[in-house]
Amino acid sequence: MLAGKRIVLGVTGGIAAYKAVEVCRLLVDAGAHVVPVLTEGAEHFVGRTTFSALASEPAQTSLWNEASPIPHTALGQSADLVLVAPATARLLSAYASGYSHDLLTNVLIATRAPVVLCPAMHTEMWEHPAVRANIATLRARGAHLVEPEEGRLAGGDSGTGRLAAPARIVAEVRAVLARGADLAGLHVVVSAGGTREPIDAVRVIANRSSGKQGYALAAEAIARGARVTLVSTVDLPTPAGVDVRRVQTAAEMEVAMGDLAEQADVVLMAAAVADYRPVAPAAGKLKKDQGVPQIVLEPTPDILAGLGARKPAGQVLVGFAAETSDLVANAEAKLARKNLDLIVANDVGAPGVGFQHDTNAVTLLQPGGEVDTVTLTDKRAVAKAVLDTVVRIRSAGADHHPRKQTEKA
Ligand code: CTP
Repeated sequence: MLAGKRIVLGVTGGIAAYKAVEVCRLLVDAGAHVVPVLTEGAEHFVGRTTFSALASEPAQTSLWNEASPIPHTALGQSADLVLVAPATARLLSAYASGYSHDLLTNVLIATRAPVVLCPAMHTEMWEHPAVRANIATLRARGAHLVEPEEGRLAGGDSGTGRLAAPARIVAEVRAVLARGADLAGLHVVVSAGGTREPIDAVRVIANRSSGKQGYALAAEAIARGARVTLVSTVDLPTPAGVDVRRVQTAAEMEVAMGDLAEQADVVLMAAAVADYRPVAPAAGKLKKDQGVPQIVLEPTPDILAGLGARKPAGQVLVGFAAETSDLVANAEAKLARKNLDLIVANDVGAPGVGFQHDTNAVTLLQPGGEVDTVTLTDKRAVAKAVLDTVVRIRSAGADHHPRKQTEKA
């Protein structure tokens, strides 16, 4: 998987830069073509000669390379993957805000290849809200994070923040490259966010869904080579390359999903759709002197059940179930009733799970009774587990229904 892959290895200025030497060696040994890019800070810890001696090309350190007038765009465009190990708080901040002050940040902003970031810093810095926010932004945009480990840090301290072991970093790079293509050629449609049903000109019936899980699914699907369309009610950072259709109400979402799902290979219905809407929303604003409004509700269409009833052959249809009790029994009932291939159930009453959180814990149920659980983790990791299962369902389906033999040559 690594053989012949062009990997830009970004090294930033932290004590863990010495471990990047080992990462470089492991990648080269596995057959990768490694181009080291060192920041000015990195050179305080390791010499460029060390990397030049081990890597496939001399280490680069400057935007102002006389030999090539456009090294930043060329390096980023030609990379199969950009790896940053270690990634300092400063690098994460610059990358999250698009601040391209040196060669490495230029490479990161110019590339469309997958990016793997391996942060390393003191525990206090790792836990700082500014760093957490940058990490969340970068993940939402599709970057892969190799979380730091707990252990001894510089200056005799210990805690979380130590760069992941070189072997773990290389394993993650392999996994990202392997996943790179497993949805290639497929159209994935994802719905995200809670619908908003108007009561009058200014008020809506909404719900607590943030849309984060749907966006994480879209980011993961595009990173794995799919063409992705996101039908969204919310305004979160859109993963690069994802086509977004904005909707508000269940009725608008039904139209958008109905059109897109006809041709889709995978449909992931992560949105929280209102079950009821006001029968007759007021055209203007309801005023207090009109008295307490009596809002009469009517059911909305069950979009997912409609998609299940018309599901094209070969499509994998995935639903979500937000439950506060009897998680498995309720989710199984929805799986059958809506003719789904997979249901992702979460106990939204549990701490850190579901609505508005950056984390989630889910149970994945399939019609054959197969059950998988994903314990509390970030929503991107949940998205990975969901799409891994989708890929398995597709390949099992292909085994059961092999494509018709075409004419022999
Ligand atoms: N769903 C939908 N249209 C609706 C309601 C739900 O498409 N009108 C979809 C959701 O996007 C989700 C799945 O159905 O993928 C399950 O949603 P959930 O709210 O958990 O279940 P409901 O079917 O609404 O049942 P209940 O509210 O009784 O739990």
